[in-house]
Amino acid sequence: MNKQMDNVAADAGIRGGVHLSQRHDSAHKHVTGLAEYTDDIPEPAGTLHAYLGLSDRAHAEIVSIDFDAVRAAPGVVGVLTAADVPGSNDISPVGKHDDPLFAEGKVEFHGQQMFAVIAETRDQARRAAKLAKVEYRDLPFVTDVAEAVSADYPYVTDPLKLERGEVEPAMAAAPRRLKGAMRVGGQDHFYLEGHIAFAFPGEDDEVTVYSSTQHPSEVQHMVAHVLGVPSNAVTIIVRRMGGGFGGKETQPNIFASITALAAKKYHRAVKLRPDRDDDMVATGKRHDFLNEYEVGFDEDGRVLAVDGVFAARCGFSADLSGAVTDRALFHADNSYYYPAVRLVSRPMKTNTVSNTAFRGFGGPQGLIIAERIMEEIAYALGKDPLEVRRVNFYGDGERNVTPYHQTVTDCIIERVVDELVESADYQARRQAVLDWNAKGGVIRKGIAISTVKFGISFTATWYNQAGALVHVYSDGSVHLNHGGTEMGQGLFTKVAQVVADVFQIDLDRVKITATTTAKVPNTSATAASSGSDLNGMAAENAAQQIKDRLIDFAAEKYSVDREQVVFQPNAVLIGNRRVSFDDFIKEAYIARVHLSAAGFYKTPDIHWDRAAGKGRPFYYFAYGAACSEVSVDTLTGEYVVDRADVLHDVGRSLNPAVDKGQVEGAFVQGMGWLTTEELWWDDKGRLRTHAPSTYKIPLAGDRPAIFNVKLAEWSVNKEPTIRRSKAVGEPPFMLPISVLEALSMAVASVADYRECPRLDAPATPERVLKAIDRLGGREA
Ligand code: MTE
Ligand code: HPA
Ligand code: MOS
Repeated sequence: MNKQMDNVAADAGIRGGVHLSQRHDSAHKHVTGLAEYTDDIPEPAGTLHAYLGLSDRAHAEIVSIDFDAVRAAPGVVGVLTAADVPGSNDISPVGKHDDPLFAEGKVEFHGQQMFAVIAETRDQARRAAKLAKVEYRDLPFVTDVAEAVSADYPYVTDPLKLERGEVEPAMAAAPRRLKGAMRVGGQDHFYLEGHIAFAFPGEDDEVTVYSSTQHPSEVQHMVAHVLGVPSNAVTIIVRRMGGGFGGKETQPNIFASITALAAKKYHRAVKLRPDRDDDMVATGKRHDFLNEYEVGFDEDGRVLAVDGVFAARCGFSADLSGAVTDRALFHADNSYYYPAVRLVSRPMKTNTVSNTAFRGFGGPQGLIIAERIMEEIAYALGKDPLEVRRVNFYGDGERNVTPYHQTVTDCIIERVVDELVESADYQARRQAVLDWNAKGGVIRKGIAISTVKFGISFTATWYNQAGALVHVYSDGSVHLNHGGTEMGQGLFTKVAQVVADVFQIDLDRVKITATTTAKVPNTSATAASSGSDLNGMAAENAAQQIKDRLIDFAAEKYSVDREQVVFQPNAVLIGNRRVSFDDFIKEAYIARVHLSAAGFYKTPDIHWDRAAGKGRPFYYFAYGAACSEVSVDTLTGEYVVDRADVLHDVGRSLNPAVDKGQVEGAFVQGMGWLTTEELWWDDKGRLRTHAPSTYKIPLAGDRPAIFNVKLAEWSVNKEPTIRRSKAVGEPPFMLPISVLEALSMAVASVADYRECPRLDAPATPERVLKAIDRLGGREA
């Protein structure tokens, strides 16, 4: 398909406009090492290096810290503690003042930063940081979410309740009922480029920080607060991250603030890059959840009532846990209509690192319960789980209102699933799996379809805004800047495609430039999958302003109607005079046309009343479905994913190649979350899985052996988003829930599918083996 579209474009249009498959603008630089990351920036003479001093208690008063040995260590220039902070020693992203930059008086998790060592080299700083002698007075602590619930540990932020209909009577009247609980594991971001910041002092109160951040404006504000200077003194720059995945939405504040503080204090450039173990220990991760549910249903498998409680391990501070646990509730229905429903969140405080954003932002941890409920009902009724899913899909008429009272008006899940069932040959393959398992061998198979309906917009409504800056230089080349950040997802490429399309110029005429708070202010995090929706629109708006001025200029100068000024590929047609774009721009410049514009966009028609639990928090939904087949060795618990078929909705894709890459990457990352990536804290509250030696992310070989990923090419966003596309970053992350449920089926086969095996996530081989044992599989 894309080949064909590209050829058409080459003949008739510009190179690289919208809806065409374009390689990521930096793809060749990523693989050859030419892409510049923060650590590649040449260090000026005299650059200093900072390193974190971390607590080794889960909860304790700090009685004293003796830095003598640290200060005496080779290369050490100084030590920074809370006492060195001229402004506020707090980097809470939500204004709760519960996130000290340096622990003061007490530590609340094992690995909390208490101080920073500044030295001539990174190695010197890192070694010296271990030499501090800390005297603690231990306090009781809780690390696990279930323990936190039973110990009545506090919430880190206000819980949310979503309610619609009368749950008790509906539950009581339901012909069938069941209760269940599911633990859903957390996840380390494991970006290839870890956290890093590099600060340069300026004159007066000024400082510039290169930060690996998804949220330059927040880093700017945090650095300003810490230094006690206004935001206009602080400039943040990020050309790209080597992956963020949500891990760089708030966590960069630690590193940027410390380097800025040190740069101002010593008046030298200062860099801070923790090693992988410390990055994993000291920065927040995906929240693990303990979810409990009760569901009432009828003999057809139709849900009548759902009552759910979603408890999350938030860690020691609020960070983004409020919005994360809210989003879990917003997705606890997934594609399914619940006639009566009550969903409650429990954002539990624990003495662990403060958990944060991670692809899906709580959505996956909520959505997985909807899928589990479908499986539970199917096992209870002896049905194909697909049948149960189908009778519960959001539909027309009454059956289209969510637990948060938003009406679903764009539901395409039935068509997506129908097409997937067909292309994946689900029915025949399910029969083959059943036949295979009926033979009773050691290797058992499972196959499952799961669906995704993911809400697009920040639920913090004010975040849904963006700015852009476009300059057209007098030679006709274009400089593009916007508030979004590039973390590998292809945002810069897509937004440049939009600008190229507005001016009808080849994509390589548009220069993509580093995100900086000095060019576009007050930006939102590049998060919630909203990067291209928001920044694409803002950039289009900026380019369109310039284009409008150019049209006015041409119409006046050549005495033609505005309609007679037409932008053609790399040229402009004015009446019947055709000039190249570059010559036209030169003319416009000479005529003193303003060739620069700031663009802006805010998402329309969204609102959310959290106290009432009602509103339209999402502008639209993105949909998808996946069918996964697995083989499980019932003697060892080992398994492989033999095949996965995906059909995913990105509306009218801005760039099918990039979007398909996002779907594939999200699927594999989601598989890691649900299968092998296990976080484990010991009885001292230490994270023991803090390196690739103990924490297993998927390898190339873990990719499904057959992996058919397709975009729903017919889908067009009903809302006027940028060129009718849909957000793609997070929604496909939840597709591999089909892998977990396929594993469940393989396990269930050892007991003739009488029982839903209720596999918790991650379904590590160990956990799969235990489930088989529990069902009596190995005796059989
Ligand atoms: N893709 C890559 N390659 N690297 C990343 O860090 N982050 C994901 C997703 N895809 C990520 C990624 C997350 S968590 C989000 S919210 C979106 O990209 C953010 O970018 P977007 O809004 O431009 O899609
Ligand atoms: N998603 C991702 N990041 C966020 C959100 C959200 O809904 N709200 C605040 N930060
Ligand atoms: Mo993505 S978790 O919203 O950065």
